[in-house]
Amino acid sequence: YVLGVDLGTSSVKVSAVDKTGMIVAQQSYNYPLSQPKPGYSEQNPEDWVTATTVAIDRLILKDGLKPAEIEGISYSGQMHGLVLLDQNNQVLRPAILWNDTRTTSQCEEILDVMGQAFIDITRNVPLEGFTLPKILWVKENEPQIFSKVQTILLPKDYLRYRMTGKIAMEYSDAAGTVMLDENQKEWSTVIAAKFDLPISIFPPLIESIGLAGNISDSYATFSGLLTSTQVFGGAADNAAGAIGAGILAPNMVMSSIGTSGVVLKYEDDTSVDYNGGLHFFNHAIPDKYYTMGVTLAAGYSLSWFKKNFAPELSFNDFVADAAGSTVGANGLLFTPYIVGERTPYPDGDIRGSFIGIDGTHTRKDFTRAVMEGIIFSFADIMAIFADKGSDFDTVVSIGGGAKSSTWLQIQADIFNKKVITLQNEQGPGMGAAMIAAVGVGWFDNLQACAQAFVNYGQTYTPNPQHVKQYQTLHKLYKQVYGQTATISH
Ligand code: XUL
Repeated sequence: YVLGVDLGTSSVKVSAVDKTGMIVAQQSYNYPLSQPKPGYSEQNPEDWVTATTVAIDRLILKDGLKPAEIEGISYSGQMHGLVLLDQNNQVLRPAILWNDTRTTSQCEEILDVMGQAFIDITRNVPLEGFTLPKILWVKENEPQIFSKVQTILLPKDYLRYRMTGKIAMEYSDAAGTVMLDENQKEWSTVIAAKFDLPISIFPPLIESIGLAGNISDSYATFSGLLTSTQVFGGAADNAAGAIGAGILAPNMVMSSIGTSGVVLKYEDDTSVDYNGGLHFFNHAIPDKYYTMGVTLAAGYSLSWFKKNFAPELSFNDFVADAAGSTVGANGLLFTPYIVGERTPYPDGDIRGSFIGIDGTHTRKDFTRAVMEGIIFSFADIMAIFADKGSDFDTVVSIGGGAKSSTWLQIQADIFNKKVITLQNEQGPGMGAAMIAAVGVGWFDNLQACAQAFVNYGQTYTPNPQHVKQYQTLHKLYKQVYGQTATISH
């Protein structure tokens, strides 16, 4: 077996996977999130280690997994979280997580100091969630702590350190620090110098499928694992999710609806320049990349609407209701900016809207309009790919959008692309297990592993009549941002 460790924001899930890609056992364990002040979001790195160890112990003790049969382990990690270690590799303060927004002024400072040069080096604009602004925040606000920093790590890289005793950071996650020089594939000495950061705090870089080490003696004693088990780099959760969905060729795009939504495209090289309009990160395949845009309130828009206006319905019945409305929700339009937006509008102040409310509309139309509005927002992200001539023909739908045939057909019709589902969707933990499967040598590369492990389910094809109707509505939808930005600000 191999183990895929999915280190999320609220829990860790460890999956044991066999050579055919079957999950033979799975255990998860929660940990708390602390919000000491508005906008702050922190976690205790020790909790990640404890929770992962409990989950692994349960796989061994409850599910009967034999440690000698665990050939390899790898990871999917919540991105961007800042873990600071001192000279004895002790944690200096709670980790500052991806969804912590205290760093607005550091983001501004980065652009003031470096401007376009920053985007040219990292291929990204600095955002509150990314790691570099967090490092600068600690440097400015907690100088006593900063003076003790010997090493910075990201969540799953810290967990891997505790399991192997080896310090390293893996590329797909390193990209999300926005300290990586994407052209040189190494830490940016230019950025480090501009912000007076010792380059030595940035650890050695390894590939996702690269061997990080073996389970250490001390972790073997602690966990019941054996030191013969090999441990591999792993990947950022978005990269791992993309692997699990088979997004491993330029014609493939992932459409993922969770609380927020992600539209993610595989990129063969660094030649397409989105100039920071999309996140640009290293993929788990060496020297390959992915670009992604985020709709902040995707699933959240629908659950917000349901909670307030249809609390009595089950989620399935509520979503099925939308089939009773029409393409275009009988003329009702929704923009999903209810907590602000990230892509294509980096605008925290914009708010959502319903436009065209008619006396004949019923709740069905509102539900349908919310589902369509979320997909229009995804289509706006896809339009950025198209603008740069980065073409694709297949969309893999995962998360909430894949759970309703109505929503899947809405996606095919608005995207005007073939939309497919996964037969047995497992999330980023499967991508983590696939990395380990390649690492231990079951497969030559991730593409070969995906051939064996990733099985697609149903295909939804665009209906030409609906495509036309949605194209007209999308033009209208695009006007709403400009018109409502003035009243939202
Ligand atoms: C990506 C991001 C989130 C986290 C969630 O930029 O901030 O998707 O990776 O763990």
